[in-house]
Amino acid sequence: MPMQTVRTNAIDGQKPGTSGLRKKTAVFKRPHYLENFVQSIFDGIDGVQGKTLVVGGDGRYFNDCAIQVILRMASANGAAKCIVGQGGILSTPAVSNLIRQRRADGGLILSASHNPGGPNADFGLKYNGPNGGPATETVTDRIYARTQEIRSYKITAGTEIDLNQLGVTKIDRMKVEIVDPVSDYMALMETIFDFDKIRELFAGGFTMRFDAMHAVTGPYAHAILEGALGATNGTVVNGTPSPDFGGGHPDPNPIWAKALMDKMYGGDAPDFGAASDGDGDRNMIVGRGMYVTPSDSLAVLTANAHLAPRYKDGLAGVARSMPTSRAVDRVADSLGIACFETPTGWKFFGNLLDAGKVTLCGEESAGTGSDHVREKDGLWAVLLWLNILAETGQPVAKVMSDFWAKYGRCYYSRLDYEAVDSDKASAMIEALRVRLPLLAGTQAGGLTVEAADEFAYDDPVDGSRSSGQGIRITFAGGGRAVFRLSGTGTEGATIRIYLEQLETKADKLDMKPEYALADVRSAAMLLSDLTASTGRVDPDVVT
Ligand code: G6P
Ligand code: ZN
Repeated sequence: MPMQTVRTNAIDGQKPGTSGLRKKTAVFKRPHYLENFVQSIFDGIDGVQGKTLVVGGDGRYFNDCAIQVILRMASANGAAKCIVGQGGILSTPAVSNLIRQRRADGGLILSASHNPGGPNADFGLKYNGPNGGPATETVTDRIYARTQEIRSYKITAGTEIDLNQLGVTKIDRMKVEIVDPVSDYMALMETIFDFDKIRELFAGGFTMRFDAMHAVTGPYAHAILEGALGATNGTVVNGTPSPDFGGGHPDPNPIWAKALMDKMYGGDAPDFGAASDGDGDRNMIVGRGMYVTPSDSLAVLTANAHLAPRYKDGLAGVARSMPTSRAVDRVADSLGIACFETPTGWKFFGNLLDAGKVTLCGEESAGTGSDHVREKDGLWAVLLWLNILAETGQPVAKVMSDFWAKYGRCYYSRLDYEAVDSDKASAMIEALRVRLPLLAGTQAGGLTVEAADEFAYDDPVDGSRSSGQGIRITFAGGGRAVFRLSGTGTEGATIRIYLEQLETKADKLDMKPEYALADVRSAAMLLSDLTASTGRVDPDVVT
C-alpha cells in the first residue's frame, strides 16, 4: 500500500490534560485533527521506527475508526508491530498490562474515561510509555510542542484491518496482532489474588452485583466474576460495551451509578456491589446499605492488603493524590510505612511505583491501584475487596465500622461546579491564592485556619517540580478544604471543592457526611467567595 505524506497545519488546543487529550467527538473528527495528534505523539517519543505499540480503547463511538487511522499511521511511520484488542476493545489497565507483559514500547488508549460517548459526546486519546503508565509531564510537553509546529503526517492509504479476527495480519511491513482483550489480564489477576478462596465465598451463597455501565469492563467481569470465580449468572449487569454507554454517563459514583445504589440500599440488596467506568480504571465499592468513599476504600485496602497473596509480605509504601482524604495517612502511620502526597493524575504515581517506593496508591476520583500495572485498575480493586471479604468473612458494613473504630473516620465529600466561565473560575482561584499567606490563624465559619498553601510537588525520584496543584486549607480540629480546577473537563471550567473532617469519638462515627462536614463547607464557601465570583450557589454534583 502506498505511504503518503499529508501536508497539514498546526491545530490549536491539542494540549493533553490530566489524562491525555479529551475533546468533543466532533472535534476529533475534524479534518487532520486525529492525525495531527497521533503524528505529534509519534514525533514526541522520537518516532516509532521498529517499535511495538499496544492499541485499544473503551469501545466508545469512533473507537474503531480512530484505531484504523492509528494503525495506518503507525505503519507509515515504520512501526514493527501493533498489538490490538479484539474489536478494538482493551480496558486501560489491560493496555498497561499488555505493554508490560509484551515489553512493548508504549501504547495508545482511546477513551475519554468516564465522560459520555457518542457523536455529540466526548472522545479522547492518550499515550502510555514503556512502563505501561501515562506519559510523564516531560513527554506530554514534547507531544504538545509538536502539535504546535507540525507541518505533515505520514499515513498508509486505503487499508482496513478486520479488528474482530484474532491472529496476525500485516499493513505493509508492520505486523498487526489482534488479541483477546481479557486473557492476559485475567492471568495477571490470578497471580495476585486467591481465586480459590473467592470461589468458595461465592459457592457459599455470597451475592454480588457488578454494574459495568455498558462500558469496557463488561467482558472482563463476565469472564472473571461469573466465569472463573463462579458468581451467579446475572451478577454482571450492563455488561456489553456500547458506543454511547447505553446513553448513560459511565462514571461509577452514587450519582451516575444510581441504579446500583438503589439496589444496594433496597430490600433485596446483595452482599456486595461494585461498578467501573468507561475504560475500566475507576471503581465504586458499596456494601449492603453502605457506600464506601474512594478515600476510605484506599485506606481499608491498605490496612488489609496483606490478606491477598501478592501483598502478603506487606507494602513498601502508599501514595494518594493531594485532594484524597488523609485516612490512608493514618493507616500508613500505624503500619510504619511511607505515605506520599502527589498531585491529581495517575501519572504522578508512576515514578514512585517504578522505584519500588509504593505498592498501593489511590485517588478520591474513584481510582485505586498497585504496582501490578501502571494505571488505576477498577476490577483489581473489586477483586482485592472480594479477597478481603473472603478472608475476614465479614460484611462490608462491619469491615468499615471496625476500620473507623480503629483509625477514626475521615468524613469526605466533593462539590463540583461544572461549566463555569473559565475566566471567572481562574479569577476565583487567583484571589484565594493571593490571600493564602494571610489566612493562618483567622476564623472562617466558626473554624480556625491552621495552615493554607498552594500545593507543589517535588518528585522524590526524578527531582521534577510540579507547582500550582491546588489550594489546601486545613482547620484546627481535623478539617480540610481543597480547591482546584479540573483538568479533565471539556466545557468551560469545573471547580472542585473537596471537604474533609476527621472524627475519632466513638459515638460520632455514624453521622451523615453532610452533617459532619457542615462547618468545613461553610468555611470553604466563605474563604473562596465562590458565589460572588462565579454566580453559583449550589454545586452541580456532590459525591
Ligand atoms: C482522571 C485521571 C485521574 C484524576 C481524575 C480527575 O481520571 O486519570 O488521575 O484523578 O481524572 O481529574 P480532574 O482533573 O478532573 O479532577
Ligand atoms: Zn477511566
